[in-house]
Amino acid sequence: MLIRAKGPHDAAECLELLLEVHRQDHYPLHITAEQVPEFLDSGHEAAAWVAEHDGRIVGHVALHTPDAYPTLELAGAQTGIPVGGLALLARLFVAPSMRRTGLGRRLLRHAADHAPALGRRAVLDVGMQLTTAVALYESEGWVRVGELHLPLDPDTMLDLWVYVSP
Ligand SMILES: CC(C)(COP(=O)(O)OP(=O)(O)OC[C@H]1O[C@@H](n2cnc3c(N)ncnc32)[C@H](O)[C@@H]1OP(=O)(O)O)[C@@H](O)C(=O)NCCC(=O)NCCS
Repeated sequence: MLIRAKGPHDAAECLELLLEVHRQDHYPLHITAEQVPEFLDSGHEAAAWVAEHDGRIVGHVALHTPDAYPTLELAGAQTGIPVGGLALLARLFVAPSMRRTGLGRRLLRHAADHAPALGRRAVLDVGMQLTTAVALYESEGWVRVGELHLPLDPDTMLDLWVYVSP
């Protein structure tokens, strides 16, 4: 299994994989399949990696550095680190056929280990119902520092835990 930097030529395959994850796991949460491309291509990506197996992309993770974002603001308030010193670890997903082989853990570590090269500490948010991902983050020693409840529309709330890297 190879983890390498994502290139522009990987976009279509990453999207195909995320659509498969969306169908199976409902991640990204609370969006339709039509909204998945925009979610993946948010414009805040500072770095991203893919995992490759037998010439196919089977995993993805990114670091995002938006100027303002509720997760970064909460993590900044809790750690005392300014938002500009934080990077949002985001868009972590693994192909359903490759789950529970340690790939999610490898991608998580790979991205978090890269954050200092950007002069930042990795933080993340995770939907409270994504219990598998929560188990992964806690097993890696990430520390829960708070929660967010972001209204997406009058009927839908995005409930998130916020974690900072160890
Ligand atoms: C979360 C996700 C990336 C984990 O990927 P993975 O490659 O299966 O994870 P790993 O094999 O590295 O597992 C690492 C740890 O996560 C936890 N974990 C993974 N799958 C789990 C499951 N089905 N049940 C409980 N814990 C689980 C365990 O602690 C596991 O360690 P262990 O195998 O030593 O017990 C993957 O399930 C996924 O893509 N989910 C959908 C997208 C998503 O929720 N992304 C997170 C967005 S914030």
